[in-house]
Amino acid sequence: MEANDRPVEPSPAVSTDPAAAGAPEAWATSVLGPTGDLPPEMFREAARATADVMADYLRDVERYPVLPRVRPGELRARLDGTPPEEPEPLGKILEDYRASIEPNVTHWQHPGFLAYFASSGSAPGILAEMLMATVTANAMLWRTSPVATELEGVVVDWLRDGLGLPADYDGLLTDTASTSSLIALAAARETARPGATADGLAGGPPLRVYASGEAHSSIDKAAMTLGLGRAGVQRIPTDSEYRMDVAALESAIAHDRAGRWQPCAIVSTIGTTGSTSVDPTARLADIAAREGLWLHVDAAYAGAAALIPESRPLFAGWERADSIVVNPHKWLFTPLDCSLLLSRRMDRLRESFSLVPEYLRTVGESTSGRDYSEYQPQLGRRFRALKLWFLLRAFGLSGLRERVRWHQAAALALAARVDAEPEAERLAPVPFSTICLRWRPERFRGRESEPVVAQALDDLNARLMDAVNATGLVFLSHTRLSGRFVIRIAINHLRTEQRHLDTCWQLIVHHGRRLGAELEVSSPPSG
Ligand SMILES: Cc1ncc(COP(=O)(O)O)c(C=O)c1O
Repeated sequence: MEANDRPVEPSPAVSTDPAAAGAPEAWATSVLGPTGDLPPEMFREAARATADVMADYLRDVERYPVLPRVRPGELRARLDGTPPEEPEPLGKILEDYRASIEPNVTHWQHPGFLAYFASSGSAPGILAEMLMATVTANAMLWRTSPVATELEGVVVDWLRDGLGLPADYDGLLTDTASTSSLIALAAARETARPGATADGLAGGPPLRVYASGEAHSSIDKAAMTLGLGRAGVQRIPTDSEYRMDVAALESAIAHDRAGRWQPCAIVSTIGTTGSTSVDPTARLADIAAREGLWLHVDAAYAGAAALIPESRPLFAGWERADSIVVNPHKWLFTPLDCSLLLSRRMDRLRESFSLVPEYLRTVGESTSGRDYSEYQPQLGRRFRALKLWFLLRAFGLSGLRERVRWHQAAALALAARVDAEPEAERLAPVPFSTICLRWRPERFRGRESEPVVAQALDDLNARLMDAVNATGLVFLSHTRLSGRFVIRIAINHLRTEQRHLDTCWQLIVHHGRRLGAELEVSSPPSG
């Protein structure tokens, strides 16, 4: 067993019981007063104690295994009980949080979190979240929070400029890329079928959205939600590097036009979830223009790389899109949730979602302020602009670029280690900061396509990933590419350092060799 191949023990729960440190503070032992809340001075003390819990967590998070060692249902059984009839003191609740809740989250803030795409929350973003909760502004209308609305315009422009996009893009902040793509495709639907928002889709040919076989499932969910159905998404095959095959797209559109379908939109993914491949966006923009289709770009993860001028060639053509999604909560260190939806057709977004009941109409004063709830399905909306305002100012674009550049360089360096290891196989290019690989013992080289070997390699890699994750030091996730089980290492966490990547690689090599040596595969019958 190598030095790093040790299970992690959770830290002993640190007591937040003020009695343990001397005289109990009033906030910790009192229950809420007659107003139903803490008086401000007690709130101050409680907030300080909570801030200590937060700072301790961020300092000590590596004491926890990234994945908590619990079975489904175990926590429910522990936390369940009768509803609390009598008020309990906040000190006790905070103590229970520390003992039962904090250890049992999956630790997204752990620097060994290399699974999916990490959402890591930076200090400026966390502090802004605290203030957002403090003012509890609902940014649904301009008048329900003028500064939330106007600040949103400011940070949308700042980020757009930082990403190198033209000034005629406007936009809004949503919770997730799934919502952003839903809004974009609703606008595409309204453009393809004017009046669809009011009248529905009955009576016309069914609409079709084109996305690659590697596009995110949120596109299908948007189509399901918008009444296009899953059949309304035509998945286009990809080439050997998992990019949309342009010829296949053109023939799918022609085939649909000749048949019963009405083409509606093309989705280009820049940074697919599986392999982070890049669709040929400029060529898709040509087709969208020629065919009169909406072009939506899903750059939920990879969009952050556009902050870096050297990476911009990967984004060529996105400046011609009708809508673009980039998630600050993926690679820009913003605590979940925060997704940026940009569009130069804001009128279409509004046509798709504007429905203002009488009680929400602003009367008795003239306002040209924007009511963002007219651009999204939900009415209520969080003051997400505050997070981005804190983040963009505290890091500066230069600080964000520095982190993203480091992630990209670290990924290339790790990819080089994978390439130099004869028993490891890299299964996709690394345009951004994610590496796709599998372990393939030397003796199976050249036999990968034999079904029995292919199955054995899939099993080996699933067990390898489990073994690495069981150490608690890092957390990896997988995908399938060309039918093969693939381990992904996504490097986009604010706190990941080189030592975590070294540990990750040592663990892969150690368990890969161990499991590879044990692997038995019967030879196919000869003749
Ligand atoms: C390319 C891409 N698009 C969309 C999504 C969905 O993101 P969200 O969870 O913000 O809806 C993901 C999630 O990883 C993604 O990788």
